[in-house]
Amino acid sequence: MLFGVSSQKKIAIVAGDGIGKEVIAAAVNVLKASGAALAFTEFDWSADRYLKDGTGVPPDGFELLARDFDAIFVGALGDPRVPSNIHAKEILLGMRFKMDLYANVRPVKLLDESLCPLKNVTPKDVNFTVIRENTEGLYCDIGGVFKPGTPDEIAVQEDVNTRKGVERIIRFAFDYARQHGRKKVLMADKSNVMTYAHGLWQRVFKEVAAEKQNAGIQASHMYVDALCLQMVREPRQFEVIVTNNMFGDIITDLAAALQGGLGMAASANIHPGKTSMFEPVHGSAPPLAGKNVANPMGAILTGAMMLDHLGLKGEAERIESAVLEAVRQRKTTSDVGGSLGTKESAEWVAGRLGRK
Ligand code: NAD
Ligand code: IPM
Ligand code: MN
Repeated sequence: MLFGVSSQKKIAIVAGDGIGKEVIAAAVNVLKASGAALAFTEFDWSADRYLKDGTGVPPDGFELLARDFDAIFVGALGDPRVPSNIHAKEILLGMRFKMDLYANVRPVKLLDESLCPLKNVTPKDVNFTVIRENTEGLYCDIGGVFKPGTPDEIAVQEDVNTRKGVERIIRFAFDYARQHGRKKVLMADKSNVMTYAHGLWQRVFKEVAAEKQNAGIQASHMYVDALCLQMVREPRQFEVIVTNNMFGDIITDLAAALQGGLGMAASANIHPGKTSMFEPVHGSAPPLAGKNVANPMGAILTGAMMLDHLGLKGEAERIESAVLEAVRQRKTTSDVGGSLGTKESAEWVAGRLGRK
């Protein structure tokens, strides 16, 4: 197939640590097999690099990504050899915060009944998206300790919620619902306790929900603890859930369990109009690293989200269908019922796409 150079999308790859390296290598093979016109550039930002020369992100690293690339494809960051996790914070949270990727989009979709740990739950019962605020909240790293190491020690961690930040993520959730044919947006918070911070979320959510353009979309609210109960008891009721950074982190691991575990969960870190970043929800899983056992499907589905975002919808859909077929036929790793390795299950998906 011939493509003009200008139509090629430039993808920065940060495979990172542990299983991140394996799942990204596997997923890149699938992306290549999809026929999408992509040009990949690898970056070695990782624990290895940090331990070698102290570099997390080189100077101007984020500017380079924003200027020269259409998207960033990330594996996972985190390595027991860097117990402070400082490099991971610099790289991963650095991308989210410094590139202002304020919407963390985490679809929760059960592909096959056999993957769900709940009884009598089928794919039509688990199909919702969590929109997680990605640049504020408890992740701002504002705080400190007073009298450390003494019995009087005080530790403070600030929860930062700005009008601008809360409003833009709530608007994003309604826009997402409209664009994806969804009729319900639910906001989860803990406003019964966090009266100031989540009081702001309550006010903004009601305002945005009441706007004319959101007519036809049902807006509702749950406290996050009740949401956890409902997510397990009746996941079918959810379509789009919007929440703050920390709650979004926690509920998407719970939600990952509904779809077959962390190995199946995909995510996108988006700022509309800016270079955005795509990463599976899982971490570097140190005990699995280097063994060719990690499930690559979360990374592959993340790759499909990236293509969709870049306007390559046909290729994205073909990858999703191939993953679905792999899951149905158990051409997968053992965590989702198969007996293949990371590389082999991705190769099966790539083979399905008919173009090695
Ligand atoms: P983890 O996601 O690495 O692992 C949690 C559990 O899920 C483990 O039992 C693991 O074996 C399993 N798992 C994860 N991915 C899997 C896959 N692809 N296939 C099969 N099983 C999989 O979370 P953790 O153990 O809490 O964290 C390990 C490291 O990763 C830490 O340093 C953490 O900070 C980091 N982390 C990074 C990211 C990221 O880069 N986005 C996300 C989460 C955790
Ligand atoms: C995630 C991860 C990260 C987060 C960590 C590694 C900083 O758990 O992407 O879900 O808390 O956001
Ligand atoms: Mn997490």
